[in-house]
Amino acid sequence: MTDETQHTLGHDFHKDSSKVSLNKRGCYFLVFIVIALPVVVGVVVWHLTDRACNGSSEDGTGGNQVPVVGTSVGSTVQVTTAGPSTTEPWKYLRLSGDVKPVHYEITLYPDFYDDNGWFYGNETAELNVIKSTKFILIHTNHMNVTHTELNYSDGTNIPLARTWWYAENQFWVVEAEDVVRAGTVFLKLRFDGSLTQAIVGFYKSSYTNSVTGKRRHLASSKFQPVDARRAFPCMDEPGLKAEYTVTLVHKRGYIALSNMPALTTSPWEHNSSLVATPFKRSVPMSTYLVCFVVCDFANITSTTKYGNEIRVFATPDRIQQAEFSLKVMKMSMELYQDLFKVEFPLPKNDMIGIPNFVSGAMEHWGLITYREVNMLYDPLQASAANQQRVAVVVAHEIAHMWFGNIVTMDWWDDLWLNEGFASFVEYLGANVSEPAWEMLDQMVVDDVKPVMVTDAGVNSHPIVVDVNHPDQINEVFDAISYSKGASILRMLQEILGGEAFFNGISAYLKKYEWSTATTDQLWDELGQVRGGYSVKEVMDTWTLQMGLPYINISTAPGSGGITNVMASQHRFLAHKSLAYDPNESPFRYKWFVNLDYIDGNEYKTQWITKDQDSVTFSVSQTQPVKFNVKDTGFYRVNYPDTVWRDFAQRLNQSGPNAIPEPADRTGLIDDSFNLARGGYLSYDVALKMTSYLDREFHHLPWDSAFNGITYIKDMFLNSGMFNTLRKYILTKVRPVLDKITWNDEQSSHLEKLMRSNLIQLACDFSDTDCYGNATQRFRDFVDRNISIPPNLRLHVYKYGMSADGSEADWEFLWQRFLVETVPQERVNLMYGLSFTKHVWLLNRYLDYCKDPTKILSQDFFAVVTYISRNPVGNSLAWDWVRNNWEYLVTRFTTGSRSLGRLVPSIVDKYNSRFKLQEVEDFFVKYPDGGAGSRGRDQARESIQRNIIWMRDNSGNIKDWLENNLADA
Ligand code: BES
Ligand code: ZN
Repeated sequence: MTDETQHTLGHDFHKDSSKVSLNKRGCYFLVFIVIALPVVVGVVVWHLTDRACNGSSEDGTGGNQVPVVGTSVGSTVQVTTAGPSTTEPWKYLRLSGDVKPVHYEITLYPDFYDDNGWFYGNETAELNVIKSTKFILIHTNHMNVTHTELNYSDGTNIPLARTWWYAENQFWVVEAEDVVRAGTVFLKLRFDGSLTQAIVGFYKSSYTNSVTGKRRHLASSKFQPVDARRAFPCMDEPGLKAEYTVTLVHKRGYIALSNMPALTTSPWEHNSSLVATPFKRSVPMSTYLVCFVVCDFANITSTTKYGNEIRVFATPDRIQQAEFSLKVMKMSMELYQDLFKVEFPLPKNDMIGIPNFVSGAMEHWGLITYREVNMLYDPLQASAANQQRVAVVVAHEIAHMWFGNIVTMDWWDDLWLNEGFASFVEYLGANVSEPAWEMLDQMVVDDVKPVMVTDAGVNSHPIVVDVNHPDQINEVFDAISYSKGASILRMLQEILGGEAFFNGISAYLKKYEWSTATTDQLWDELGQVRGGYSVKEVMDTWTLQMGLPYINISTAPGSGGITNVMASQHRFLAHKSLAYDPNESPFRYKWFVNLDYIDGNEYKTQWITKDQDSVTFSVSQTQPVKFNVKDTGFYRVNYPDTVWRDFAQRLNQSGPNAIPEPADRTGLIDDSFNLARGGYLSYDVALKMTSYLDREFHHLPWDSAFNGITYIKDMFLNSGMFNTLRKYILTKVRPVLDKITWNDEQSSHLEKLMRSNLIQLACDFSDTDCYGNATQRFRDFVDRNISIPPNLRLHVYKYGMSADGSEADWEFLWQRFLVETVPQERVNLMYGLSFTKHVWLLNRYLDYCKDPTKILSQDFFAVVTYISRNPVGNSLAWDWVRNNWEYLVTRFTTGSRSLGRLVPSIVDKYNSRFKLQEVEDFFVKYPDGGAGSRGRDQARESIQRNIIWMRDNSGNIKDWLENNLADA
């Protein structure tokens, strides 16, 4: 995954939450409107009770304790500030487990029609009181609870002393007059809330049907991790699984969807102008998997070979773009069932593209929701990268049906059991659908190598990490949980062999089916590895401490043509001078390393255990061996300079075939650049590895080279060295691009991906031909309406706009953007618009972001980030974000991961003390980093490293480039 294409490929860690909080004042105002507006009579009757206003904190995730109004008994309660105690269970973030949910019966009426935007709900929660208690706590947020009633199972009413909302921990607290006896109780609640304040929870979206020209609305939901409590009161922890019986009330002419199949729709008892669609009672599941949709969409259907009914829903004008994702859905469901030997347990499975969706996609069980760009694919309009993204996202979400839905992590500290697994299994699903794409190898450049960069910082974190507050829970959806999680599973598969690995996984799924599991329970099912070590002792070193090792190889000739090898392990850091305390890790930053290699034609392995600093062994050849076969191990390898030079020379002399596996060449290039960047290896060596690239025609090595070169380019952007680098790189890129040309009609999928990187490199290094080509196609498109081949569009819009985009050109793209129905093309246009050189246009574009009729909430962060990647736009975006910080926090809350990622993504290329100071000043002025707290530490660390890098490397890189240009 490269920087620029991050929005089309790979895991996407900076584009989700677009929460809009309801501040206290806004809330009372809305309550007033609800009471005053003549809503459907039935609803008012249904809801005519007292109300309290929840969700009054600014950040939408809690905040300071506020006095709140009790409802059922009408008394005002001053919440005390005393520390947590068992007599005040609401003071704890976590539920005690003394009361467990069994079944929720929920009726919801989302009134999203025309300009309306409110929902009304009523619920009966069947609860199992395990230990008698006076308090029943249930999560709510941003809603009014208007009626609370508690009954024993025989119907006897339980008198309540008071009920109130405890903002800090988002609890609706129900206090009984006397102790509630152990056994079953029924908690009845009525509640209502806004559909328009956020795009998480239960919310409204709109779209224009391009065929009818009509504006249409819908309601849909997205709860993970902590937003189910915005839509219905619930015990909102993943371990508290329960069953759900849902009824959705809606207008005729709309369809209602939920996790389970719909039963018969009939007129609603409270208002016969509406209908009610009840759904079958669900299987036991976590609250975050519940989903509600009311819309007017169309669908296509299929059936898997195991007889599962599958459907894909989209807006009626876009449904023809859903064929590809239906195919991937079918093939991955079949594959996973074969591989994991556990059936898909629901009677149906649906997927749906939502016009405004906060994440890439969400694995609601039986009703998977997507941002349209990740589910729809039109072969005539979207690129190879776009198609791959759809395949990967679909295969990822389907993987969650097993990893996450059937077996769920017990608590968010083991999130990787969901996301790491899905991020690994997604490659298997995409691969079975598109075998020619070499997906299993692509994992090296899309997950393994990129996350090594993140994990080498001292502000990384272990895969298994303590999280409690909602902001921390949001924050842990990051590259470590996803990509490192996936990478260590791939490594374990290699160590155990496929059969043992998949058998163990299957046993794990069967054992914890319908329940929850922990990382240790997974390891237990996987047993032992070679040498009698337990999987747990090997894998703990990868999950319980952050970071990764590099293996230092030294060699000496032995007698009779053998080579003696010494391999030692050391923590790999983004820069070798970074200070850390080994005692902060339970394993003192030593790992269990499976060092593997090909000796002659034989595959061999060597353990370096967590108790060993080094091992010695011999190989039966004199030619240097490449360790870490196909880079399946989560470590880097450093060799003596002579060995590195030997690799480079072999590649130079014999071309790519000297090291036949593309993943191995990728590993060498990626490791050499990153070792050089960290000060472990001279840049001369890494640059030498690029010498052969003019003959490299595989996507993988080019992708790693792209990343290594781009870092140097970003550092040199404002310096005189840029031109020297430019000349050199173009001697490598040009020959390949000239050979494959811009015409991709005959190209394989992987060649299309490679071409995209090469065009970007060539144009970013101001290659005249490249720019000429892009501008000409841009003019053809704008002036003569000649369409651009899908794989080139992103680049043509970007470079065409940046080369000579006028105000009229900007306006032309903008008008297309507003009416575009192909989601990927919308992104291309949105991207192109960010690259104008006219500062005032960029400023206006930034201001458009504040208008949701122009830029959807889901796209907000993408636009600001794209502008910041425009050399002309970066300081503009930085100023804009600083000037608008309070607005951003109010609109998105500090709990938003996307907001958390925003500043780091703008500043992490900075490489001067002056810029570092600006960033520090900003963090001091706004100390609450929320879900971006770790991101801030990482950004600061990056800038500090960039400063050191400039000091240490500018000179020698320049010398090397000049010498080698002279040779060329
Ligand atoms: N479970 C996540 C959705 C999610 C992400 C919920 C972040 C809460 C916070 C889903 O399975 C997912 O991982 N989506 C990715 C796309 C995926 C293919 C990598 C996303 O939204 O970025
Ligand atoms: Zn996921």
